[in-house]
Amino acid sequence: MIDKIRIEKKTKLIADWQTLMRTFVNHKDDASRSTLVKYMEQIFFGLHDFLKKHVGITEEVSLKDLSRNFTNTLISKNPEKKLADVIADLVENIAPHAVNVTSPYFVGHMTSAIPFFMVHLKTIVAALNQNVVKIETSKVVSILEKQVIAKIHRLIYEKDEAFYEKHVQNIQTTLGCFIEDGTLANLTAFWVARNSMLAPKNGFAGIEQEGLQAAYKAYQIEKCVILVSKLGHYCVKKAGGLLGIGNQNIMTINVDANNRMDIDCLKKAIKDIKNSSVNTKIIAIIGIAGTTETGTVDPLPEIGEICAENRIHFHVDAAWGGPTLMSEKYRHLLKGIKLADSVTIDGHKQFYMPMGCGIVVFKDPSIMDVVAYHANYVNRPGSVDLGIKSLAGSREASSIILDGALKIMGSRGYALLIEHGIDTCLRFAEEIEKRPDFQLITRPELNILTYRICPFHIQRRLAEGNPEQICDINKKLNKINRAVQRLQREAGKSFVSRTKLKINQHGKDIVVFRCVIMNPMTNIKILGEILDEQEEIFRGIEGLRIEEFRN
Ligand SMILES: Cc1ncc(COP(=O)(O)O)c(C=O)c1O
Repeated sequence: MIDKIRIEKKTKLIADWQTLMRTFVNHKDDASRSTLVKYMEQIFFGLHDFLKKHVGITEEVSLKDLSRNFTNTLISKNPEKKLADVIADLVENIAPHAVNVTSPYFVGHMTSAIPFFMVHLKTIVAALNQNVVKIETSKVVSILEKQVIAKIHRLIYEKDEAFYEKHVQNIQTTLGCFIEDGTLANLTAFWVARNSMLAPKNGFAGIEQEGLQAAYKAYQIEKCVILVSKLGHYCVKKAGGLLGIGNQNIMTINVDANNRMDIDCLKKAIKDIKNSSVNTKIIAIIGIAGTTETGTVDPLPEIGEICAENRIHFHVDAAWGGPTLMSEKYRHLLKGIKLADSVTIDGHKQFYMPMGCGIVVFKDPSIMDVVAYHANYVNRPGSVDLGIKSLAGSREASSIILDGALKIMGSRGYALLIEHGIDTCLRFAEEIEKRPDFQLITRPELNILTYRICPFHIQRRLAEGNPEQICDINKKLNKINRAVQRLQREAGKSFVSRTKLKINQHGKDIVVFRCVIMNPMTNIKILGEILDEQEEIFRGIEGLRIEEFRN
């Protein structure tokens, strides 16, 4: 009892000025130095030791059960915990129930293990705490950002040395910007495209100033659209809503048998728009370089040519596939990307950066002028302030991380990662095809493939069946695949994601496993084990009345 009281007394924490001051680093005080190191060690060693023991994806506790521990909504008046206890709590109680995305068995999403040095680079970003909205809170870091953006621009557009000399540190021009994620990078591109198209003219001050209704009147149009394939990321729809054109005006174009935008359908859509009785303008056409679900690349050269002919903004969403350009072996897959007026690439995807870093670059160094904003206290005309042409205001200096990573890895280092992903995915496709219980649905072009459980004798029945029988079989298969995916996820050893795709079997959606190979530690042996586990679950599931599928 006495001990308990003593402990409670010892751990009673109060917020007072003296304690508060200890939470700010005093750079003159050597004790601050060892304090910083002590807690960093606690984090790194704690997580390291935890992950050493913990090879699975997550603990087998349901979200519903977990949520019971997260219902207190009161901010406590006095401090509740010391930093050491907060860290211990995160390592012991949160980490086991978070998702171990570093596991080589985690192959379901575009998030994976990252090189260890990314954590150090992220730490320096927090420690320096630069705000790149303006030069007054970032100075050289804003200049560094302009250089990194120019490097990404050069990777894509390969302009000559003179071009980059002229623009890399030019105060008037902008080759692109960093933003939090791919969603916002795409939104920035469409914002620029919209404003360029509905620019000021004859007494009309431009859409940014006067709004959509005035713009439609000035240009005598009734509607604006953006065209993207059916496999476009859902963030394009969000952009439709935010830009005021309406998300129903994100027009989706059919894909061909290889899941790439069907060029004939695109041409027909443009023709229909031109001939429509509703006067319509196309803000942009999007080519996807690595679709989210199948990893396929749209025919960029053809889309680029069509955009040029029709004077339409061509945007390439290379959020996923962009870094493929660093691989000499596979860069040809992104042929035509140079034709784009704007390109999105995500740093937190295949640049293996920590969350979250989106990048958008523009071919024309002056095009971002149409989204320039100034304020009296900051972002004054003629300054280097990066906030002038950016959707975001205050933001962290992600460019420090990308710059460091590019220096540590070199493009050859990144190429090794990209090539491992694609090569392993191709081998995985062969493995799937060898196994009679599985059907490969979409072949990898980059490092993503889809497949499903569909025993060989069922594949034969699908090939020979009438539409009604096919529909019926697919319904049952969907149920099985959903169940297997869920049970595998719940077992917590490996994770493959799930999506629905329309394949040419009478236009109905089928449920498929989606596999994204990004982690360099994922190999064909591990992928084989993942298939073994899925087979075992399939053979063991009760209650679905699937005897006919089990042979
Ligand atoms: C092709 C593509 N574009 C855009 C996005 C959106 O990126 P973010 O999740 O970073 O906003 C994704 C995300 O998966 C994507 O795959």
